[in-house]
Amino acid sequence: MRRKLAAGNWKMNGSLSSIAMLDHLNRAIEHDASTDVVICPPVTLLNAATQACAQSHIAIGAQDCHSEPKGAFTGDVSAEMIAETGANHIIVGHSERRDGHHETDATIRAKALAAIHAGMTAIICIGESEEQREAGTTLDVLGAQLMGSCPDTATGDTVVVAYEPIWAIGTGKVPSFEQIVEVHNDLRAKLVLRFGDAGNSIRLLYGGSVKASNAQTIFAADNVDGALVGGASLTAEDFAPIVTALQAS
Ligand code: PGA
Repeated sequence: MRRKLAAGNWKMNGSLSSIAMLDHLNRAIEHDASTDVVICPPVTLLNAATQACAQSHIAIGAQDCHSEPKGAFTGDVSAEMIAETGANHIIVGHSERRDGHHETDATIRAKALAAIHAGMTAIICIGESEEQREAGTTLDVLGAQLMGSCPDTATGDTVVVAYEPIWAIGTGKVPSFEQIVEVHNDLRAKLVLRFGDAGNSIRLLYGGSVKASNAQTIFAADNVDGALVGGASLTAEDFAPIVTALQAS
């Protein structure tokens, strides 16, 4: 049985005052053994966030890391440095990094490996553009990203895969239920082909305009083990119902 995972990605949002949200969230959800909850704030808030969650079941993650443990990389942060804050997840390969920072599958695989070596879980993001969706190449594009971005040693403990159609991120547009099922079933088959039994233990999240109003429908899809949530993870009022819907799925 795969544990479910509700992950929130604050992106470049939030300040020290936003840390109070973690306490609100903790009180708004009933923790149960079926579902993990992770919040990924900006790197400047990681220490405060892990301290705020020390007594709760909410885990903290980062949104990116460098592939090297240390060195002359001005402005970058390594997975080891992130681990020191008490965070235990790192998102890698978000489309905003792939597009805005020209990250390739090879870069993302190296970052995922760095996260794993630092003892953390890598949340590896993949997703097709609107043009690729319209051209009918979605499954091929995702398959190539999946194979290129996942380290050979991936297991359910070290890697989570998040399917995030680029055209659904922050737009309010969501793929149809059938489209989500088609992609997640295909990704599962590819994970099993590549990793054998371990491929069955790797969790598959859906991301892109997930909200309380559509969460129940999305979580009913085969092979959707949870969600990576952007905008709706910024407040406990928006995120707690998504966690509750996931627990009930
Ligand atoms: P969104 O973002 O929920 O605001 O669409 C999702 C993401 O980019 O992870």
